[in-house]
Amino acid sequence: MIIGKKGTIRKDLIVPGDKSISHRAVMLGSIANGVTHISGFLNADDCLSTISCMRSLGVKIEHEGDEVTVHGVGLYGLKEPSGVLDCGNSGTTTRLLSGILSGMDFSSRLTGDSSIRKRPMERIMTPLRLMGADISSENDNGCAPLIINPSSLHGITYDLPVSSSQVKSCIIFASLYSNGRTIINEPSLSRDHTERMLKAMGADIRSEGLTVTVDPGKELNAVDVVVPGDISSAAFFMAAALITEGSRVVIRNVGINPTRTGIIKALQDMGGNIDLINKRVAAGEEICDIEVSYSDLHGIELSGDIIPTLIDELPIFAICAAYAKGTTIVKDAKELRYKESDRIGLITRNLKAMGADIEAREDGFIINQNGKRDLHGAVIEDGNDHRIAMSFAVAALSADGETEIVHPECVSISYPGFFKDLLS
Ligand code: S3P
Repeated sequence: MIIGKKGTIRKDLIVPGDKSISHRAVMLGSIANGVTHISGFLNADDCLSTISCMRSLGVKIEHEGDEVTVHGVGLYGLKEPSGVLDCGNSGTTTRLLSGILSGMDFSSRLTGDSSIRKRPMERIMTPLRLMGADISSENDNGCAPLIINPSSLHGITYDLPVSSSQVKSCIIFASLYSNGRTIINEPSLSRDHTERMLKAMGADIRSEGLTVTVDPGKELNAVDVVVPGDISSAAFFMAAALITEGSRVVIRNVGINPTRTGIIKALQDMGGNIDLINKRVAAGEEICDIEVSYSDLHGIELSGDIIPTLIDELPIFAICAAYAKGTTIVKDAKELRYKESDRIGLITRNLKAMGADIEAREDGFIINQNGKRDLHGAVIEDGNDHRIAMSFAVAALSADGETEIVHPECVSISYPGFFKDLLS
């Protein structure tokens, strides 16, 4: 995919459904009693992996466009799969499903693509084993394939070493099958969609500050889920408007759960003109329309508690920083090295290739543009990572010359229609 410099961008669009909420609606709908109707489901490869795994576990799921109907089988109604559960590229599927499978009275084996088989799974195996789970890494390397055998689980008190909604949710899922209370403490708040959805389904789960408490024993009751637009997808269009002169973009129905809005705050702190309008609540999640116009951005420092609230948006944030005046520093974001790719490495190498002054740090990066707005096109090493490919496609719109995205097809992980929406 070759992308050249583009003039003003004017768009009024709806981005696809939230990936985190779509995964959770299918998994929790599967183990609830009754039928869950999901509208606005994210029809992208990661969430399709979740549907296919739940079908392999015996759940009837109807799926047409962005409408999904899950016929829940109750907490203990899943069936032993006939083969390996293929989680594709999806860390959320692998980690969250491991929590459910640890509570089952049958064995299962989970794996995924070459990226998933390199991502760290010790972070879930450690707390699951403390709960009594029998889970192991087939190749003894802390990665998938994972083997889970039946065991009897008990509640634990666990302090997460790093904020992670995937790990938190995995433990919460396992706690539904445990004897006794589970208490989870996080260093900073990560996304809380699991807690919200479980509360709506009638689980005994409470969140107070950085602590989540679950008391097992309650059945889950199906609730309909209206999935809002994914702020992680909206962020690409916010950035495109901010860095491309004369632009204005409106993005409708975007989820603004406060555990996800770090990118809005960060871009506003950089001087971005971003307005949140028509704020409302749908199915327990806040949503709004976002209006963004071209702005003179300046560098900022990002660290601490905000990082988990924009972890997936740091690649596109880096692009904005490369078009901002002055210095931007990102710290406390070592987790970026363990995503679909080593995102600190790829952000740094690709922005350098486009002519930016950027230096990688172990836990982030420093960008020093001193008012230059003169990035040029380059061949982008995207590492088959959807968010890297989309971020550099946006960077290309304001860069001189042409930029090549080597694996454009990887955007199908979270946003199959991305190039059509961006370039039309
Ligand atoms: C997700 C949580 C985040 C995020 C991922 C989706 C989720 O991962 O990066 O894209 O749906 O729970 P961690 O919780 O591991 O940081």
